Amino acid sequence: MNRVDGKIALVTGGARGIGGETARRLAQGGASVAITDLLETEGKALAGEIVESGGNAIFLTHDVTREDAWQQVVAETEQRLGQLDILVNNAGVWSRGVIEETSVEDFDRICAVNLKGVFLGTKHAIGTMKNRPPDADSASIINLSSTAGLVGSATSAVYSMTKGGVRLFTKSTAIEVRARGYNIRCNSVHPGATESPMQDDILATSNMSPDEIIAFKATRNLLGRYGEPIDIAKAIMFLASNDSAFMTGSEVVVDGGYTAR
Ligand SMILES: NC(=O)c1ccc[n+]([C@@H]2O[C@H](COP(=O)([O-])OP(=O)(O)OC[C@H]3O[C@@H](n4cnc5c(N)ncnc54)[C@H](O)[C@@H]3O)[C@@H](O)[C@H]2O)c1
Repeated sequence: MNRVDGKIALVTGGARGIGGETARRLAQGGASVAITDLLETEGKALAGEIVESGGNAIFLTHDVTREDAWQQVVAETEQRLGQLDILVNNAGVWSRGVIEETSVEDFDRICAVNLKGVFLGTKHAIGTMKNRPPDADSASIINLSSTAGLVGSATSAVYSMTKGGVRLFTKSTAIEVRARGYNIRCNSVHPGATESPMQDDILATSNMSPDEIIAFKATRNLLGRYGEPIDIAKAIMFLASNDSAFMTGSEVVVDGGYTAR
């Protein structure tokens, strides 16, 4: 189940956190993985770890907000690994701030990564995935949204705005590519609070004491713990694999029941 043998995958923001675990999992499932990120040291180390354990991975330095960088990473991935089958638009940034105090510079920075980055990745992936024969396994684009793309928040409205945008961009992509006859699926994943460097930053700026953080994590959702990157990576693997062949335009919520109440 959930095998991706022989497939070529590109994971943005893949040096650490959810993207890093997704890269590991895809490689364990048989894919060759291009890990892309701004973080060179972490990204190269992870690619090395995957290769040492018998998988196939490369690291490419990449800023998802730049179109020329997208052209380069897609071309280099295809030159070194083969034609792209799976794109995970995972790179994202978070920022705490009430609307009245959010600067235009901060707004532009968050939108550039979370929205423009997903748009550019999708654009350049479609450009190469569209020639796939109709009887082959579909190419798969997976976009990281969030529970913040489903329900609102008192502390990060701009982040929610971007993640809500990713949710509907995903559905529109799914419709558009089928209308154009392309053999491509596109789905979004909506993690709840998940242990990662981003989440460490969220909690560090929360003004909660260490004891309050422990109590907060235990009551945040129905399952009484924060997600682990592997919890999210498993859902991404499912959408990347042919086991999800009948899913496109879907939103997969992995949140311990946070949005159930
Ligand atoms: N951790 C959570 O609780 C949580 C919850 C919901 C959604 N998400 C989403 O999941 C995704 C991964 O989050 P994470 O928690 O692993 O975060 P993280 O901060 O640990 O990892 C994000 C990665 O994206 C990279 N990145 C940032 N800007 C980039 C850019 N311009 N170009 C290329 N790479 C860039 C970072 O260097 C980092 O390696 C994000 O889209 C995030 O919004 C996370």
